[in-house]
Amino acid sequence: MKLDVRGLRKEFDGHVVLDGIDLSLEGVHCVALIGPSGGGKSTLLRILAGLEHPEAGEVWVEGERMDFSEPALLRHRRSVGTVFQAFNLFPHLTALENITLPLEKVHGYSAEAARETAETLLTRFHLESSALKRPAELSGGQRQRVAIVRALAVKPRFVLLDEPTSALDPEMTAEVLDVIEEVKSEGRDLWLVTHQMGFARHVADRVALLAGGKIAECGSPQQVFEDPQTEAARSFLARVLKY
Ligand SMILES: Nc1ncnc2c1ncn2[C@@H]1O[C@H](COP(=O)(O)OP(=O)(O)OP(=O)(O)O)[C@@H](O)[C@H]1O
Ligand SMILES: [Mg+2]
Repeated sequence: MKLDVRGLRKEFDGHVVLDGIDLSLEGVHCVALIGPSGGGKSTLLRILAGLEHPEAGEVWVEGERMDFSEPALLRHRRSVGTVFQAFNLFPHLTALENITLPLEKVHGYSAEAARETAETLLTRFHLESSALKRPAELSGGQRQRVAIVRALAVKPRFVLLDEPTSALDPEMTAEVLDVIEEVKSEGRDLWLVTHQMGFARHVADRVALLAGGKIAECGSPQQVFEDPQTEAARSFLARVLKY
């Protein structure tokens, strides 16, 4: 991906959450966004997804400046894939319908083409037997895998994943992390907000640490985890890597 964020600011009711984010990424395929709770990770991801307006600053995606007017945001949202913590899926639809519905209604696929795309992806991610089940009949891990497949189905420019495993037990977490790794190995660009430092280190080629409204640290996993340059990064990592 090629992505530039310049001076991005966001506040909620006078409370500054993003206080001038600067980030320049080129030739990066997987960014792990880490940092303390309440630090603004989800807010940054939601801005990149076109779901939130910044107060100031610019975002450039592949050399094109993101336009935060409503019609442009609608187009932008269609070009990215998003997976959030949990409960993304429409509860009254089967896994297959959860994938085909946006393809047909938002992306203009014929029913047949949508079905074919969805079935191919479900098979590729070993979810054939879940295709006709509704979310309530799936495990948490299967649900998140369907949500990831749905995000991929639209061939997004990048996929934004916000703590996709935080609601899952360890076994299901592993299933979902395997899928994320597979998605990355297929060449899809990813942003991943995670509290799983081990996985961030393993899968990301860039780790950005968001603390105090700023990017405190951004570098290779090795550099950020082994040789953090800022006090904010050192104290955060000391806390999360303690156990
Ligand atoms: N829609 C909103 N309205 C008001 N305040 C908000 C809104 N969204 C986020 N905030 C506030 O912005 C701050 C950052 O929240 P955000 O969810 O981005 O943090 P985070 O880094 O994702 O935290 P966590 O690791 O707990 O998910 C918090 O203080 C939060 O209360
Ligand atoms: Mg969050």
